[in-house]
Amino acid sequence: MDHFHYTGDRLHCESIDVAAIADAVGTPTYVYSTATLTEHYRRIADAFRAIDPLICYSVKSCGNLGVCRTLGALGAGMDVVSGGEIFRARRAGVPASKLVYAGVGKTDAEIREALREGIFLLNVESEAEFENTARLAREMNVQCRCALRVNPDVDPKTHRYTSTGRKETKFGVDIERARAFFRAYGRDPHARLVGLHLHIGSPIYDTAPYVSAITKALALRDELLTEGFEVSVLDIGGGFAADYETGRSPDAATYAAAIVPLLAPAVATGLRIVLEPGRAIIANAGILLTRVQYVKQSGEKTFAICDAGMNTLLRPSHYEAFHFIWPTAPAPAFVPARRTEKPDMQGLVMHDVVGPICETGDFLALDRAMPPVARGDLLAVFTAGAYGMSMASRYNSVPLPAEVLVHGDRFEVVRRRETYADLVAHEA
Ligand code: LLP
Repeated sequence: MDHFHYTGDRLHCESIDVAAIADAVGTPTYVYSTATLTEHYRRIADAFRAIDPLICYSVKSCGNLGVCRTLGALGAGMDVVSGGEIFRARRAGVPASKLVYAGVGKTDAEIREALREGIFLLNVESEAEFENTARLAREMNVQCRCALRVNPDVDPKTHRYTSTGRKETKFGVDIERARAFFRAYGRDPHARLVGLHLHIGSPIYDTAPYVSAITKALALRDELLTEGFEVSVLDIGGGFAADYETGRSPDAATYAAAIVPLLAPAVATGLRIVLEPGRAIIANAGILLTRVQYVKQSGEKTFAICDAGMNTLLRPSHYEAFHFIWPTAPAPAFVPARRTEKPDMQGLVMHDVVGPICETGDFLALDRAMPPVARGDLLAVFTAGAYGMSMASRYNSVPLPAEVLVHGDRFEVVRRRETYADLVAHEA
């Protein structure tokens, strides 16, 4: 579900013709819909209401302050993975008491920051990190709440780069080591071990991996409770899918139908649940607007060369991820009914949609059927809100794009386009 729709033959975000945004702000530009991200957050909250989780939006998916403020105002906490993300979440007005902090390589400075802020939960990923956290908390004479990130060895059946819950990944501690971990560290007076954390990968299109990881975590919790340890929080991580192709991914209610019954009995006895969705909230709430600079033939191929590329949206070239791409003002016969890799229309032309970057791997789509495009056409890259701007780079010294947040019939530039001066601002 999202609020990007063709009205007549022009793409709108809520009530705004997206071409008006491109005219005012230029391209490439990320455009986010407030109504969409609000609705996605509420759907998750409603679906999981019976277990009243703390929903911590995953800042890494899109950390724009305008987006974080919108979610924070709805009551969301935030999942952060660096000192910079703690800073962002706090700057967006999210209380430290709603922050959960994961990451395998937290530096001393970052841990101190988390301790100073008094965040809700520090998700610890190794014995060495726990010892370091306990030392820093002792030195600062504070107490903090920690959860042990366990690796349940479950296959989330997703891209190998974003599969995080298999044994061979760098995340968390093997679940078999968790009891020994609690025995060694579970009674530390400064770093208080009070929970378990899971994050098995993303995106996960099936509920079964969640069921199997959560079942393992609950069994572990029972064992730990028997030994007298506190396990009052279970953070089940993120990974709910987004609708890259219409109708392909489960909705919040489908995940909840599998997960809530598993957790409800433990919640009834006082367990607090944390969710860390990123993509499911923001992916479909964002598009990337890019302008076709040139169309050219090479060999058998037709290239649509755009002003956005791997520097703007890395996902296609890094993960071979699919993003539906379509003109924002197509001829009436080409107004799309749905997002799909294989549009079913007469007269489409195969394109490689590529960027300006000096690499053959710089593409947004390969061999993609689209209406014929021409220089100057505006294209929308859909489902681009998550891991779009947050993974963008200044490669080839191309300034970072602008970000715009739409609210009904108005829009706001929530990050201005960078300038050449910005490119060199940090250099001597
Ligand atoms: N929690 C933790 C500990 C995570 O590492 C992540 C994502 C999330 C939550 C949120 O996952 P989500 O709900 O957004 O799927 N760059 C990749 C995705 C990397 C995900 C990293 N961790 C992509 O573009 O698909």
